[in-house]
Amino acid sequence: MSNSLFRTKKISTILAESNDGTHGGGGLKRVLTARDLTFFGIAAILGAGSFSSLGGAVFNGGPGVVVLFIITAIACAFTAFCYSEFASRIPVAGSAYTYAYASFGELFAWIIGWALIMEYSIGNIYVAFSWSDYFTSFMDECGLHIPHWLSTSYTESKNAFTTNGNANDVNAWNTAPMLGGLKIILDLPALIINILITYLVYRGIKESRNFSNVMVVLKMAVVALVILVGGYLVFSQGHTANWMPANDEGIKSFMPNGFKGVMAAVAGVFFAYIGFDAVSVLAEESKNPQKDLPKGMIYSLVICTVVYILLTLVLTGAVNYRNFEGVGDPLAFIFEKENLNVGWMKLLVAVCAVIAMTSVLLVFQMGQPRIWMSMSRDGLLPPVFQKIHPKYKTPSFATIITGVVVGLPILFTDKTFVLDFTSIATLSAFVLVCGGVLLIPRREKQAGGFNMPFINGQFIFPLIVVGALIGVYFLSKSYYSDIFNFDFSGNADYVSGKKSFMDMAIPNISIIIFWLIAIVLAIFSFIKKYSLIPLTGLITCMYLLTGMTKANWLWFLAWLAIGLVIYFAYGFKKSKLANT
Ligand code: ALA
Repeated sequence: MSNSLFRTKKISTILAESNDGTHGGGGLKRVLTARDLTFFGIAAILGAGSFSSLGGAVFNGGPGVVVLFIITAIACAFTAFCYSEFASRIPVAGSAYTYAYASFGELFAWIIGWALIMEYSIGNIYVAFSWSDYFTSFMDECGLHIPHWLSTSYTESKNAFTTNGNANDVNAWNTAPMLGGLKIILDLPALIINILITYLVYRGIKESRNFSNVMVVLKMAVVALVILVGGYLVFSQGHTANWMPANDEGIKSFMPNGFKGVMAAVAGVFFAYIGFDAVSVLAEESKNPQKDLPKGMIYSLVICTVVYILLTLVLTGAVNYRNFEGVGDPLAFIFEKENLNVGWMKLLVAVCAVIAMTSVLLVFQMGQPRIWMSMSRDGLLPPVFQKIHPKYKTPSFATIITGVVVGLPILFTDKTFVLDFTSIATLSAFVLVCGGVLLIPRREKQAGGFNMPFINGQFIFPLIVVGALIGVYFLSKSYYSDIFNFDFSGNADYVSGKKSFMDMAIPNISIIIFWLIAIVLAIFSFIKKYSLIPLTGLITCMYLLTGMTKANWLWFLAWLAIGLVIYFAYGFKKSKLANT
């Protein structure tokens, strides 16, 4: 029995538990191949990020947001290697959660499991909202009008009414029927799609897989068409000047709002990449997880990265970046009359968006119950979470709870909130996965399995860090004085409540912490000869975290605090490690 917060689980124990069948009442069906897993990856990655949040990202960063896509792709690719390394060593369901249990110990494993709820369930709320946006406008095109008060969230509508924002949301507030003094405003399509997806996942993996593969083929075909038709028109109609738009000062630049503007798009861009890691939760349903999980993750990531870069270039070429303000359907928007003017593409994109987002919903809704199942096996959640349906062989109870966790907040949250929340939590989980790979002992090459190439970071990594520290100074002479700006004058206004706390001027703490960690890592890698791949994954994910706002951090920390209370009230005592 161990009372340590950092008690870890041996990899051999995790594998034995997954094989002995005592936890799952018969276990899950092993039916998935590398191709299926790649399809699952694409199904999870390409969705609301590209079809919806890309509009806001482009508005913030201009065409230069391409650079952020590349940085994020690098972070995700290195993280995918780390996931692959873990997945090949620990091919059981549970994803980053299971990996953290073997490397950092139980407390961190719990924290990751808790953060993954945000990636899988809260992320799905955003996707469901975006699905509803496209579905509603598609229905409109077909002549079936869904009233605004039945197709937007209560908070979004209320905010729009108080700030005189989006006209449709204001309309929802003004036209909503009343019930007992309360306005009835809810996103009905988002709720219904959640119920349908939950049912499908409950029914079984094989049916879900077939459904998902068809959708992936369809959405890839339409995205390719957007790139080809849009790309062709950018050149033939002579819009290429949009790649160097003028900013407020009239200066033409690829990054009209500077790099700061580009980094302001982090949550939206990163959200677009979330999903490749979901492949790893299907370990227990793969025929050959050691080989196929890494393949599935890396193939899907590479394909989607190419798609994103091309898509962003087409988007920012077709329309001036400023016109994307408040645009929730950017891919359809570029084909509108006043833009590229291709009516049939607009309709096609709307249909495709509905399909794309359905497949994202499906993959995440499958991932969440499997993580809970692993946590329950370890005693951190009640045993009912590992109950497997005798006929469908799916984690039935956990699947229904996932449906509830996604469905209920649809009634009282809004898109922006859930987007930020999901991205910060997922990035944090990625940081821990990359860090975890640094901690687990190196091993001999395994024939037939995935072996992460070892590149000694002893000299290269410290050189990169020192080079970057010097490089940023030459790129911007005021860089260091800006991040150490401890000018608190005027903060009395915040204390007295004249201005919001969220706007308070504080030094850029996250950047300072980032550089401190980079220096410490450089020293450690010099001493311990750390592997360069996980180091790069770790540092790039940390860099992306510096783009998150104060409000994001506050919400995220509050969420973690709730998780810790639950852990100490239940998991700490009931954990298997505490009772063996
Ligand atoms: N990457 C997924 C999407 O964009 C979450 O919908």
